[in-house]
Amino acid sequence: MIHVNQDVFYLSTQNTSYIFRVSQTGHLESLYYGRKIPFQNDFSFLGNNLRTGYGNTVAYSQADTSMSLEHLRLEYSTFGKGDYKEPSIQVEHPDSCYVSDFKYRSYEILKEKYYPAGLPSSYGDKAETLLVTVHDKALNADLNLYYTVFETCDVIVRSCKLINKGDSSFKIHNLMSAQVDLPPQDYTMLTFDGAWIRERHKNEKTLSCGTYSISSNIGTSSNRHNPFFALKEPECTEHNGNCYGFNLIYSGNHMARVEVSPHNITRIQNGINPFEFEWNLEAGQSFDTPESVMTFSSNGLNGMSQNMHKFVQDHIVRGEWQYKERPILVNNWEATYFFFNEKKILKLVDEAKSIGAEMFVLDDGWFGKRNNDKCSLGDWYVNTKKLPHGIDGLCKKVNAKGMMFGLWVEPEMVSPDSDLYRAHPDWAVTTDKYVPSQGRNQFVLDLTRDDVCDYLIDAMTNVFSMANIEYIKWDMNRHLSDIYSRQSGAHMGEFFHRYTLGLYRILDELVKRFPKILFESCSSGGNRFDLGMFCYMPQTWASDDTDSLERVKIQAGTSYGYPPSVIAAHVSGSPSYAAMRASDIENRFNVAAFGLLGYELDVTQLGKFDKSAIKKQIAYYKAHRKLFQFGKFIRLTDCFKSNVTYWQVVNKEQTESVLFHHINRHQVSEQTPYVKFAGLKEDSMYSVIVRQQGLSLKTFGEIIPSKIPGVEEDGALYTKVTDTIGLKTEKQSISPVSGEALMYAGFLPKLQFNGGGFSLTETRFMLDNSSRLYLAKEEAKQ
Ligand code: DGJ
Repeated sequence: MIHVNQDVFYLSTQNTSYIFRVSQTGHLESLYYGRKIPFQNDFSFLGNNLRTGYGNTVAYSQADTSMSLEHLRLEYSTFGKGDYKEPSIQVEHPDSCYVSDFKYRSYEILKEKYYPAGLPSSYGDKAETLLVTVHDKALNADLNLYYTVFETCDVIVRSCKLINKGDSSFKIHNLMSAQVDLPPQDYTMLTFDGAWIRERHKNEKTLSCGTYSISSNIGTSSNRHNPFFALKEPECTEHNGNCYGFNLIYSGNHMARVEVSPHNITRIQNGINPFEFEWNLEAGQSFDTPESVMTFSSNGLNGMSQNMHKFVQDHIVRGEWQYKERPILVNNWEATYFFFNEKKILKLVDEAKSIGAEMFVLDDGWFGKRNNDKCSLGDWYVNTKKLPHGIDGLCKKVNAKGMMFGLWVEPEMVSPDSDLYRAHPDWAVTTDKYVPSQGRNQFVLDLTRDDVCDYLIDAMTNVFSMANIEYIKWDMNRHLSDIYSRQSGAHMGEFFHRYTLGLYRILDELVKRFPKILFESCSSGGNRFDLGMFCYMPQTWASDDTDSLERVKIQAGTSYGYPPSVIAAHVSGSPSYAAMRASDIENRFNVAAFGLLGYELDVTQLGKFDKSAIKKQIAYYKAHRKLFQFGKFIRLTDCFKSNVTYWQVVNKEQTESVLFHHINRHQVSEQTPYVKFAGLKEDSMYSVIVRQQGLSLKTFGEIIPSKIPGVEEDGALYTKVTDTIGLKTEKQSISPVSGEALMYAGFLPKLQFNGGGFSLTETRFMLDNSSRLYLAKEEAKQ
């Protein structure tokens, strides 16, 4: 709801309110953001009253010498009029003056949501948008501030548009998407940082006077610092307390900054990274910022995450696959890398089919003469040595076996050893001034150029039309360097943003041309895991790291801002090539099940034990797929702080839930903790049943062979026994049990292995880096 009363703007969602007003000086003054409070005619009791008038404070105007912009909590701050915190807008007038002063001009409640030009954005028919225009007289520019209210997910989306109304151009050095100035309060900032194979690990910093920022300068949103971040009050936990979440619908260089001023105002800003950004705004032209997303929850970090999850599902992801259950796939990358031919692929497809997978994805290496990563990016024609019947021939065979077919591409790149580069060396992002640096032996194509974007739209249209391709993995495997466009008239301060706009134009067109394809974005795993990409592609490969222990952290970190329905998670071979850590096939599945399940290992080489386990895993996932992919996700514990991780997914009706219980290191001679569910109906009765997993006899090492004469630990007989014995983990079911009991008392899992005296069927062998899934189901009412 949006309500405007004289000079006060009151925005509310189901559980939050956001209020600001026009100050006496004509600036927009923030009054409140937090738990919902009712509208009332006078909110002046929320206004700032700090005044000094002495010392070295700069008064905004001689009309009131005690009033300084430094003391106001501002909606959008400028530079040069007395507010010394970081500004949200920095412009350079034609005469090189850097001062600006935007003051209230008008407002309008828009009938339709505003969509920033050329950028992906949130959407929603019922969302109301408030437009407030502020104006700078000297610059002759309007700044439109847009606020769209998404009531049911407690999200407000903001963006700005700067319009040059004068006769000459001026420069933009910085234009943030949003600013929130919060009143004095202690906060901890949560950011999600990492690197390749270690994406989105949660980091917490207690904020005190000073500035803290996260950003990207590599050309994509990056694995260094995800654009999502949060602020929580000190006592806020996963389940209780006040916190804010922020994100940006943008895939290029971003920046988020939190400044705690010496006067105790906490200023939050996010937007395009001002680093190396300088935009020339011609007379009559305008510049749109990406949308900034903000939410508040008084129900702890889970409340905040669930707001964001609902927002992503309902107002970011769109099209055919928005709410559609995603297929279980087998991808050949970690099975074959570049070394495959049709015969090998068809063997994989047969096995994929036999374990119950629904789609086969052919990864890198199918085009040009690509037998390694040193060539052929850009040459998007089939390597007929590997695939004599082409992609179409292969796809038909895959379809004939009753499976969907998907394909990998990396369109934004060009290998120096490629026909494309030989024909168009000027299309690569390089400069003659330096020997251009390569990343994974490749250059980036200059997407700031229209001709390159047009070419890519055509090239990819050809690729996607080659066969009945139902899924595309769109990869991007290097950061940008040697930033320079060889296009005449190009201005390098605009390069990064124009690259992102070029990418969006390509994606927009291709998604329109191929509305049925399920697109998965990827950038060496999760190097471009952001809301901008999710506007085109409903899912992203979360990380190249599929080591189960690492994945617990990666998926948990990701879950703070993003729902399981966008997180692609695969079971790979053991030991994991990323961590060189072995883990059992069941644990790898349990972790991957809390995302979009796939298998990325040589399924033709599976032993009997693993194959039988995988078949059962896929059947279990299919039976609960909607729950895993679209259920409400709850973090019961914080895996960054604890040895034990509990996650849960609960369906909308609260009749079904799966709880994931994982331990990093199991502790002997210790009482097993009770397992407690959340999010169930208090007054309903449930049954709880553990998923019985395959238990490899090899788990017992020499403990068992030593008891059987003639059987050696690594011997063939032992392997045979292991494969055929069909040993399972403990059985446990509890029924009936009330929702209240499950949530407040919990239940005790079967006795954990604790040295000798165990029973193969009764003891719970939950060893280092292992897990269980417990399914709770509402029982029919008598
Ligand atoms: C990086 C991706 O993250 C991998 O999954 C795989 O597709 C390779 N690229 C292929 O080159």
